[in-house]
Amino acid sequence: MANHNAVVTGYGFHAPSRIVTNRDFEKMVDTSDEWITTRTGIKERHFAADGESTSTLAIRAAKVALERAHMRPADLDLIVVGSASPDYLFPATACIVQSALGAEHAGAFDVEAACTSFISALAIANGMILGGTARNALVIGAETLSRLLDFTDRTTCVLFGDGAGAVVLEASNASVGVESAVLHADGSKGELLLVRAGGTRMPASKETVEQGQHFIRMQGGEVFKLAVKSMCDAAEEALAAAGVTGDDIDLLVPHQANLRIIDAVARRLHFPPEKVFVNIQHYGNTSAASIPIALSEAAEQGRLHKGDRVLLAAFGGGFTWGAAVMEWWGVPIPDRREKGLVGRAARTVDDLLERVRLPG
Ligand code: UT7
Repeated sequence: MANHNAVVTGYGFHAPSRIVTNRDFEKMVDTSDEWITTRTGIKERHFAADGESTSTLAIRAAKVALERAHMRPADLDLIVVGSASPDYLFPATACIVQSALGAEHAGAFDVEAACTSFISALAIANGMILGGTARNALVIGAETLSRLLDFTDRTTCVLFGDGAGAVVLEASNASVGVESAVLHADGSKGELLLVRAGGTRMPASKETVEQGQHFIRMQGGEVFKLAVKSMCDAAEEALAAAGVTGDDIDLLVPHQANLRIIDAVARRLHFPPEKVFVNIQHYGNTSAASIPIALSEAAEQGRLHKGDRVLLAAFGGGFTWGAAVMEWWGVPIPDRREKGLVGRAARTVDDLLERVRLPG
């Protein structure tokens, strides 16, 4: 098989235009800008407008990423959306994105691992590209968590925000791309952070709505304790799997859940502040969307350049955690056609054999 790696050739994000500040929350619940800022680092977050949902945010982010990658939707053979707040239980939000983009040749499905969803989606797309069953993948993290918030519960409603980020991940002959991705879970800790009702275990009913069981509930302190250790453990594992150390990393892009968590992770991994990307002050915790939004902003702000090595780390409900190391590309592959990289992935054994004969 040709030595294809999976590289990011396009990136983009979208945050809804409505900005809700900490001061706005002071009018809703017993909280203060001072408490939210010092305990979380959050100053404001974006909330979707009526008529917007996870898919509409995802579609806008996806279009920017495709544009940057110079890729047509028809060339996609895979769309994976990571989300804990999909449009529907089913169909998958990825299918809504597929249809809206006109990605007629793409398979599409959702991945749900709460805030670890984007790294999970990236790991799957990377594996499919390495395995030869996909060439051009759109990997999205998108959330509309504002629809799952109890605006009378100050311990959760001030924390989360809406948004979407996307990357185009595609096969490349160059020796760059996703170098490692590790995923972990401990389902025994699922009660720490969940939406209890609306699934098959506790279907939505008048009672569940009256009791607010369809909202996010979290034991924040317990989640906090697990967050730092799990992110550090995953980060170290991903570094080792990639055969690199923290010194080889140009930028740490952690899940943006709490500035104190990010600072603690950075300290423990010996990353100076200039090697850590933080944008939680503007978006709050956007769960699956936080890493692709951060990656996109980092690239737009000139904090990420082609050839830089990035470390991603996340944790979240489930309990789930994971990390990935990749060499950042962030620009279109200029000579896809010459390299035999145009078109969809091998779908049959004959196709696969044909691919083996591709120039390396
Ligand atoms: O993506 C994964 C999702 N989750 C997370 O990452 C969350 C991880 N956890 C955290 O970020 C933090 O635990 C929180 C930000 C949620 C809470 O911070 P904390 O420093 O752990 O505060 P706490 O829960 O220990 O609460 C301290 C006090 C409590 O009052 P009492 O019992 O000491 O009187 C809370 O009731 O702060 C109170 N409190 C608030 N006060 C003002 C909780 N929320 C608020 C609020 N405004 N919004």
